[in-house]
Amino acid sequence: MAEKNITILGATGSIGRSTLAIAEMFPERFRIRALTAKDNIDVLADQINRFQPDLAVIYESGGIDRLKSMLDPAVRTEIMSGKSGYEAAATLDSVDTVVSAMVGGAGLLPTLAAVRAGKQIALANKETLVMAGELVMAEAARCGAVIRPVDSEHSAIFQCICGNRRQDLAKIFLTASGGPFRNLPRQRFPLITPKDALAHPTWQMGAKISIDSATLMNKGLEVIEAAHLFDVPRHRIEVLVHPQSIVHSMVAYTDGSVMAQMGLPDMKAAIAYALSGPERLETKIPVPDFTALNSLTFEAPDLEKFPCLKLAFRACESGGTLPAVLNAANEVAVEAFLKDAVSFVQMPQLIESVLTAHERVAGPDMEAILEADQWARHAAWQWIAANGGGKAS
Ligand SMILES: NC(=O)c1ccc[n+]([C@@H]2O[C@H](COP(=O)([O-])OP(=O)(O)OC[C@H]3O[C@@H](n4cnc5c(N)ncnc54)[C@H](OP(=O)(O)O)[C@@H]3O)[C@@H](O)[C@H]2O)c1
Repeated sequence: MAEKNITILGATGSIGRSTLAIAEMFPERFRIRALTAKDNIDVLADQINRFQPDLAVIYESGGIDRLKSMLDPAVRTEIMSGKSGYEAAATLDSVDTVVSAMVGGAGLLPTLAAVRAGKQIALANKETLVMAGELVMAEAARCGAVIRPVDSEHSAIFQCICGNRRQDLAKIFLTASGGPFRNLPRQRFPLITPKDALAHPTWQMGAKISIDSATLMNKGLEVIEAAHLFDVPRHRIEVLVHPQSIVHSMVAYTDGSVMAQMGLPDMKAAIAYALSGPERLETKIPVPDFTALNSLTFEAPDLEKFPCLKLAFRACESGGTLPAVLNAANEVAVEAFLKDAVSFVQMPQLIESVLTAHERVAGPDMEAILEADQWARHAAWQWIAANGGGKAS
């Protein structure tokens, strides 16, 4: 494999740091050209000193002097800030591959810029496809940008469809760990704290995706992501709760065959495959010890206990601006929950209220999507001002 020149959007996050761990394991294959963060200057400074990229970007220009003061004298990295900086990192001439690992809707425009520049995209930022899946996939086709999934489920599906005919694909089984509250009685949900919800049983992840996993909204966002990425209608995507997180997803074919991709839950495997597939890197991740696994179990998700998943199904089926509204309302809900401004059970109530109030636009362009996103954030904060603040159910 020829050397890959990489930008990491969201380098200081969980996926960003795992990507750098892969780059560090294979220095002859991966050259880090640009790194971005929001405001985690300490971690970014350490990454710049280690990888000496051409460009590094933070959100606020006010942090540039402090960042520069932390860099080794030999470092020649250009430092930029703000949205124009993220776009520059996403489209750098020397870069062929962009790892899209910012969290939330903030990832959409830089990822779209990378797509339009014809880069190969290793996509972790599922919000990009949730908000603007049709538009981004159409732009990728137009600009010759290849989008490789980083989400472990989508990586599994991608690996299971390689070498098979698309017209033979009958169904996708998207697996979910079920999160930390799978076995918690519903009556206790109003008492769930952010600390409880951040403790994911099988994956180590950033705060937002950890909360999304606890509400199962993450699985809903993944259904929308899969529908766009693999061009499969929602009714052919089934969510299965699989608490062991060994089967990362499965694909069923018209002859009744089912292909599963398995492995220990370690995001480095999916990241490495997104960067190097079909070649497989020696990541040193062990193969599961199947004799030590007592059983692999699968069950249907409980949509009454986890209404966020039902709301995501609704947004996926309706399409238009509804998925962008779902995403924006969810981002506000998660932020408010982490600040104790709404309770765990109020998150789906808030999202449902915003979805219901929205006047859906069909076939939206980017302007309509961004407008719906802004409208939904505003509506969500208004809902919180009127209803939040307590632990009511
Ligand atoms: N973590 C996982 O295992 C996992 C698995 C599958 C998919 N994903 C997806 O990957 C994405 C990243 O997840 P994560 O867990 O790595 O998140 P994370 O740990 O919270 O990291 C997020 C990264 O994005 C940056 N960032 C946050 N807000 C930003 C903004 N407004 N503008 C620019 N940069 C911003 C952060 O910078 P600072 O550090 O400076 O705040 C950080 O570098 C999400 O879309 C998630 O759904 C994650």
